[in-house]
Amino acid sequence: MPTTITICRTCRYDRTCDAPVRDGMRFLKRVEDEIAADPDANGVHLRAMRCMACCDKACAAQIAADGKMTYVFFGLDAEQNAADLVAFARSHERSADGVVPFGERPEAIKKKIGTRIAPLTDAAPAVETTWDDHDENA
Ligand code: FES
Repeated sequence: MPTTITICRTCRYDRTCDAPVRDGMRFLKRVEDEIAADPDANGVHLRAMRCMACCDKACAAQIAADGKMTYVFFGLDAEQNAADLVAFARSHERSADGVVPFGERPEAIKKKIGTRIAPLTDAAPAVETTWDDHDENA
């Protein structure tokens, strides 16, 4: 399964703003343009969803793939972070387990990772974890 970027298309920086095009939609379009312009990002898929339940931390996005680590980003800049997010997704795609080493993460979004989530796989043992050795800052 390819690495997929999911963007919250309903995010907005000002939650009182009723503009018809939300900041999340603008960010989605910029990420789409970055993927189209980057031949190394051909394998990265893009999709949108309505609300990722972190509305006070716009813009929000997720990078995930079947059997790999999932990263959730908060506070992304719709105008500035599209290329960074695609670069992160490319590193995620190259990684066998989805772990993107700290040194490979684009500087502008390093601190915008809100959380990362270990994959659920059929082969995962019930108790033993296999992700303990992945130091977040390694
Ligand atoms: S609108 Fe984007 S997280 Fe709720």
